Amino acid sequence: MGQKVQGTEDLFGGYMRAWQRMQDVARELFGAYGFDMIETPAIEQVDTFVHGIGESTDVVRKEMFRVVSGALFGDLLEKGSEAHLKPRQRMAMRPEGTAGVVRAAVENNFVPQGAAPAKLWYAEAMFRGERPQKGRLRQFHQVGVEWLGASDPAADAECIIMLMEYFERLGFKRDDLRLVINSMGDAACRPAYREKVRAFILDHADEMCEDCLERAQINPLRAFDCKNDHCREVMKGAPLAPDNLCEECAAHYAAVKRYLDAAGVAYVEDPTLVRGLDYYTRTVFEVEAVGSGVGAIGGGGRYDGLVELEGGKPTPGLGFAVGFERIALALAAAGVEMGGEEPSCVYVACTGGEAERAAAFEARLALRGAGVRAEADYQGRSLKSQFKQADKLRARLCVVIGGDEVAAGAATLRDMGTHEQVQVPAAELVDAVLARLE
Ligand code: HAM
Repeated sequence: MGQKVQGTEDLFGGYMRAWQRMQDVARELFGAYGFDMIETPAIEQVDTFVHGIGESTDVVRKEMFRVVSGALFGDLLEKGSEAHLKPRQRMAMRPEGTAGVVRAAVENNFVPQGAAPAKLWYAEAMFRGERPQKGRLRQFHQVGVEWLGASDPAADAECIIMLMEYFERLGFKRDDLRLVINSMGDAACRPAYREKVRAFILDHADEMCEDCLERAQINPLRAFDCKNDHCREVMKGAPLAPDNLCEECAAHYAAVKRYLDAAGVAYVEDPTLVRGLDYYTRTVFEVEAVGSGVGAIGGGGRYDGLVELEGGKPTPGLGFAVGFERIALALAAAGVEMGGEEPSCVYVACTGGEAERAAAFEARLALRGAGVRAEADYQGRSLKSQFKQADKLRARLCVVIGGDEVAAGAATLRDMGTHEQVQVPAAELVDAVLARLE
């Protein structure tokens, strides 16, 4: 028997309906904010992720699933290196959505100079080679937005406000959510800040783990996220990003907070929030469902340098993504059913004669033509077991067609709740069903 790959899941039944609901709510809410849907390919050239997410991030160094065509695979094994592969032959499954959307925006010129911003949202599977555990999968699903061409701090605030509204519409209580924000500076002030953190780690080298010493060389800010308790304790004394912002970044961050305050959105400032992707500048944020034990259910921020890194003209941008599987776990823990039950149906039952079966067939087609979910028996069951099946399928109505009905050119409508029955002419069946379903 085949088995699914570790860290992947099959989506079906209520779980699938929950994923669809996340998309329906996103379409409605994000649409009101002016976002259109986009889908980019699940595989991109490795360079798209290296340029955008950053060569030194865990996502790029350790977690990307690399893809080569079957024809090249043997060759690769034989040569023992990918040095001979052309850039277009080096591919990876997308570990996140932002780099691909920005690549698409550059390639298709979504934001020509001076044009209105591009606002895009997506609902897609992402792939990261992480060690699978609760809420951490190798194939997971994100709903995300990318807003390109907006530098105004009002955009940061509106993005966050929209995210919090999204969580609420999915069934979270505002009080159960913890929104954490920070500002990481920009190309003007971050390099100097990074150097300060690097110097701090090197000053405390004898107290930090091997990983943090490596981080000091390649990505010092990641030391704030070290899993080692002792390193975290030491990092409490490290220089903090908000204390090292240039004037423009400080003003931008203050304005974002003013807008959030004006909208009544509660947040906590965490000066050590750094996020795991290198493209962020200025505002970063994460949301946690308090007590759910699944980690961040969403996160994002501003990335004013990313479009350039992907080969476009300087264009500011920002966005966020939320994780479906973690949201489903957190909502289940809070006792909220996101997917809902299977939709109810109308069951068309008939006795075994050819004329009855033909009339039932016609009735089903007519009902479905009117948008009614119609079910029936396809295994030659008795009328009694057809009724049982109708109950199991939670049918609200049963259309019964027997010899008498065929002779009268009619159908009997049975309300499965009250067990009331009426006979209606076959030609009026659809209207009679629709009237009762309303
Ligand atoms: P991220 O924080 O890496 O950001 O992922 C966003 C969300 O995806 C997380 O908060 C989490 O809920 C979910 N997630 C991440 N990894 C996993 C995993 N292995 N298993 C299950 N769920 C996971 C980004 O991906 C950015 N692209 C967000 C963004 C958009 N920033 C700007 N625009």
